[in-house]
Amino acid sequence: MVERLAAEVSADHADGVLLAGVLRGSVPFLADLARAMSIRSRIDFLAIAPYSPGTGRVRLLKDLDLDIGGRDVVIVEDIVDTGLTSEFLCAQLSRRNPRNLSVCTFVDRPARRAAPLEPDYVGIEIPEEFVVGYGLDYEGRYRNLPVLATANSAVLKEDPDAYVAALYRF
Ligand code: IMP
Repeated sequence: MVERLAAEVSADHADGVLLAGVLRGSVPFLADLARAMSIRSRIDFLAIAPYSPGTGRVRLLKDLDLDIGGRDVVIVEDIVDTGLTSEFLCAQLSRRNPRNLSVCTFVDRPARRAAPLEPDYVGIEIPEEFVVGYGLDYEGRYRNLPVLATANSAVLKEDPDAYVAALYRF
């Protein structure tokens, strides 16, 4: 899947691309994506404070270090869920006059979309279920799982470590 996405991104950006990873969930995906691409790339990161439920408000916690003016920029996300994060980042970054701006996400879950946002590059579309692994976490756990796994969010709410014994060897 990463190879397919890397080929798609490479084909659309012959002059190279700046990958803007959204901390922290995109890190494993971005690392694999960047290495699978056949074009020049720069890597930078930004971080946002999660929106508080109901308000739809998102806040930039860490900005990009690089200037994106005139560059082809691809925002790299772990998952696009409501789309509020991507919508906010697209609005912020497009003000800086990139030559081109797009969104590449490992997982797309369109069922709960609240913003009119369609990611340009999608690894896998999933139904309405909670997932962990390959960067995706539950309260900081499970990011380093080498696979994407579905998890029962009610179980996790009860005990965030519920899957630790099954998934990790001590
Ligand atoms: P948004 O709702 O599209 O703005 O996504 C916000 C963020 O919520 C994502 O970047 C993820 O970090 C997190 N998130 C949404 N769904 C899941 C999930 O199923 N597992 C882990 N994190 C998630």
